[in-house]
Amino acid sequence: MTLILIGFMGVGKSTVAQTLAQGYQLSLCDLDQVIVREHGPIAKIFEQRGEAGFRQLEYDNLTQCLQRGPDILALGGGIIETPASRQLLQTQPQVLWLKGSFELSWQRISHDTGRPLVDTLTRDGLRQRFERRQELYAEVATAQLVLTDPVPAPADLAAELHRRFFTG
Ligand code: S3P
Repeated sequence: MTLILIGFMGVGKSTVAQTLAQGYQLSLCDLDQVIVREHGPIAKIFEQRGEAGFRQLEYDNLTQCLQRGPDILALGGGIIETPASRQLLQTQPQVLWLKGSFELSWQRISHDTGRPLVDTLTRDGLRQRFERRQELYAEVATAQLVLTDPVPAPADLAAELHRRFFTG
């Protein structure tokens, strides 16, 4: 069964997914990485196709990744904005919402480049996205992992996920 990771930008989906995959010899599909490999940098995709074009690519690749059935599937933070992607996720038995505060995400993403929404929106604009998405994550999530402050190390989070989802 595939464990699917969702949650806002900067919450640590890709890092935890990779740590879990490497630490426990599990197969991983990181959707953003798949899209970048096939179509180039996300910022460029947004520039050329707009956000709607990127969301369509996300949906198409989500369908393909789910068919391959990896142990872990890490998704971009905005995929739940697409109704068709939400519908698909609602058919999945294990969708884990990595849930952190806006402040946590902001600290981690505000100085990074390569996330078009962070580059174009103000802090308030991003916070609005964050707020708006909370109920969408809740709609598709079957489980949550609430990140405490300070956030546990990726290896500790991976160990917890392994225990919760891959043993017994
Ligand atoms: C996005 C999140 C990004 C990436 C793209 C759009 C979003 O993924 O898919 O920049 O809309 O929240 P991460 O959540 O891995 O940063």
